Amino acid sequence: MSFFPTNALLPLGGEEGDEGGILAAIDRASQPFAKKKSLYYYARGKMRHDPAYRVLARLLAGQEMPILDLGCGAGVFAAYLRENGLSAPLHGVDLSEKKIRLAKETVGTIYPALSFETKDAAAIQGFSGNIVGLDLLHYFSEQGRDHLLENLASFLPAGGRLYLRNGVRDAGFLRHCATSVEEAFVRGSRWITGGEWNFPTRAAVEKKLESLGLQVVSVPMWGNTPFSSYLFIAGRKK
Ligand SMILES: C[S@@+](CC[C@H](N)C(=O)[O-])C[C@H]1O[C@@H](n2cnc3c(N)ncnc32)[C@H](O)[C@@H]1O
Repeated sequence: MSFFPTNALLPLGGEEGDEGGILAAIDRASQPFAKKKSLYYYARGKMRHDPAYRVLARLLAGQEMPILDLGCGAGVFAAYLRENGLSAPLHGVDLSEKKIRLAKETVGTIYPALSFETKDAAAIQGFSGNIVGLDLLHYFSEQGRDHLLENLASFLPAGGRLYLRNGVRDAGFLRHCATSVEEAFVRGSRWITGGEWNFPTRAAVEKKLESLGLQVVSVPMWGNTPFSSYLFIAGRKK
C-alpha cells in the first residue's frame, strides 16, 4: 500500500461504485442495534452520512494487523468494518462505561474478534497495529493531546497507520461554527459527558505528528456535511 492511496478517497468526489451493496452492508451493520431504537437510527445515520466510515473501510481493506478504535462509542464503526469485509481483530476503548456496555451487548455478541474496554485513550499502554480515532482529539487539552499523540506514535509498527479524523479550528469560520453547534448538541443531549472542548488546528496536529518522526497527510473529510472535519493519516517513514 502506498502511503497515501488516493483512490480510497473517491467517495468524496461522488463515487459511482456499488451504492446498492453499500446500503445493504449498512442494513446488516445496523441490525445489532435494532433493539435500541435511538442507537439504531444514530448508527444508520453515522454509517450513511459520515464519509470517514467509507474511506477508512477502504484504507483498512485487506489489513490483518489489529485495529485500535479510540473513542469507539457503542461500536458502530466496528460493525461497519465487519460488514464491509474487514476481519482484523479490533479493540475499542471509550471513556464511557455506558457506551462500552452497549458495544459489548450488541456488536460484541455478534462479530468475532471484537473486544471493548472502558478506558481513557490516554491511559493505553502497549499496542501494535493500526489505530483509528474518530472525533476524539478535541476532548483533550493541548498538553493531553500531545501526550496522546506521542503514545500513539510509539504503537505504530512498520506499515501501521494512525487515522485520526477530527474537526479543526482552521477550516473556515462557518465550518467551525457548525462543528461547535453539533458539539453543543451532543453534550446537551448527554451523549457526550465531560472532556475538554478544545478543537485543534490542522497545522498543530500535523506539526506534532511530524515532530514524532511520522510522515503525515491530511485531507478534508467533511463530505456533504457542513463540519470542519479533517482526516490525518500518519505512519513511520521508510
Ligand atoms: C463524538 S464520539 C465518536 C464516537 C465514534 N468514534 C464514532 O465515530 O461513532 C466521541 C467518543 O469519544 C469518547 N471519549 C471522549 N474522551 C475520551 C477519552 N479520553 N478516552 C476515550 N474515549 C473518549 C466519548 O465517550 C465518545 O464516545
